Amino acid sequence: MSSLSLPPDEMRALGYAAIDLLVDRLTALRAAPIGRVDQPATLDARLRGPLPSGANAGEVLARVASEVFASALHLDHPRFFGFVPSPGNFVSVIADLLASGFNTFAGTWLEASGPATVELVTLDWLKEMLGLPGECEGLFVSGGSVANLTALAAMRHRVLADRLPGAAVYVSDQTHSSVIRALRLLGFADECVRVLPARDGRMDTTATREAIIADRGAGRRPACIVATAGTTNTGAVDPLRQLAGLSRDYGLWLHVDGAYGAAARLTSRAAVLLDGLELADSWSCDPHKWLFQPYETGCVFVRWPGCLAETFRILPEYLADAASAGGEVNFCDRGPQLTRGFRALKVWMSLQVFGVDAFRAAVDRGLMLAELAERQLRRVADWEVVSPATLGIVAFRCRPQGWTDAQCDVLNARLVQDLVDDGHGFVSSTRIGQRTVLRMCTINPRASDDDVGSTLERLAALAALRIGRHTAADRPHA
Ligand SMILES: Cc1ncc(COP(=O)(O)O)c(C=O)c1O
Repeated sequence: MSSLSLPPDEMRALGYAAIDLLVDRLTALRAAPIGRVDQPATLDARLRGPLPSGANAGEVLARVASEVFASALHLDHPRFFGFVPSPGNFVSVIADLLASGFNTFAGTWLEASGPATVELVTLDWLKEMLGLPGECEGLFVSGGSVANLTALAAMRHRVLADRLPGAAVYVSDQTHSSVIRALRLLGFADECVRVLPARDGRMDTTATREAIIADRGAGRRPACIVATAGTTNTGAVDPLRQLAGLSRDYGLWLHVDGAYGAAARLTSRAAVLLDGLELADSWSCDPHKWLFQPYETGCVFVRWPGCLAETFRILPEYLADAASAGGEVNFCDRGPQLTRGFRALKVWMSLQVFGVDAFRAAVDRGLMLAELAERQLRRVADWEVVSPATLGIVAFRCRPQGWTDAQCDVLNARLVQDLVDDGHGFVSSTRIGQRTVLRMCTINPRASDDDVGSTLERLAALAALRIGRHTAADRPHA
């Protein structure tokens, strides 16, 4: 036996212990705090050591549980409402284990024809769920950032023939930072990127049209509009139908970053908001957000068959045996990764087990919970709703009477840390309209009405403490 193997009974014992750990964690999650953040020095002292010389696997597993995962926030906790939570699901956890255990190389048909077929089928299911055109092609990637990068690389190739001088790309000030990073990586200098101020959180079609006309007039090459279906700050959806018309009128590529919000297309409640989604040239969608998959599960689609392969395909001599002869898809030809894991399996297995209606209901619940949060916030004195519930996100702020905007900014930022220290629930902050606001993203279908309500109550109690201290400090000395 190799020195890197375990005997079968030890493999089973390790595996069963790991599964027990996961199931115990999931069943105890609601009663547990949202997690813990420790200091770098504490963790370094706990986890660093000399190069290991070997240890019992069960003991190492126990250490992982008590010393590694203990210092993290649970993004699938029913009261984790910060950033974009990742509710996950257990079937997909097992799928990840299987994909890793079978060590699937999902880059070429030769090496994984069954997995490649599952990926193709799953992509078709996703297209149907999101209402995307049947002809578009895609692949699974690590997340929204790489989805945006992959789509924009295809745009650069198709629209600009990879020549960047004079190119212009239109985004809004609400566009996710991963788009800006992708453009940088693709060689677009900052002066190629027109960051247009959003109106009420949405891209302004008139301002975009004017910017395109101005750039054309100046001899530049307008290439692409990046719209967002569900902005990270407020869940706003850009006017997709109008932007698609604009792209058509001026021969631009329309990329829709639906990493956060595209999944809401599953529900009738959000369908109107996402009108026109299908009109784009490319799309990002993140099943590890609102399709309840564990990390890393992102997805990208491009309308034009063959476009991804034209952008990415390179066939070196050492891969000649794996070259596709005809209908077989080599996913390494569609994106930046040659070696890639079998991400599609988790989506395929969880859709098989739960069925699409369960996913639809789970997304719908997220939409509903944000509306519930908004209603509760509107009832509490000192709190104002800054952006109403939109695609599962509500933004709000504590604004005690007589406090300046600057004081409110500090108060709201501090409340995030107070919540972390308290441990009951979590919301995060952002800046909207030059002000610091809090933001709740309610996409975890396991969150109960009470999870939302009690987190807001705890927040209000923490705010009241700070307001009380502030008022006491302001009181003139007797
Ligand atoms: C709208 C949007 N686009 C892109 C991303 C980046 O996705 P990822 O973090 O999966 O790379 C995010 C992440 O929250 C997002 O909200």
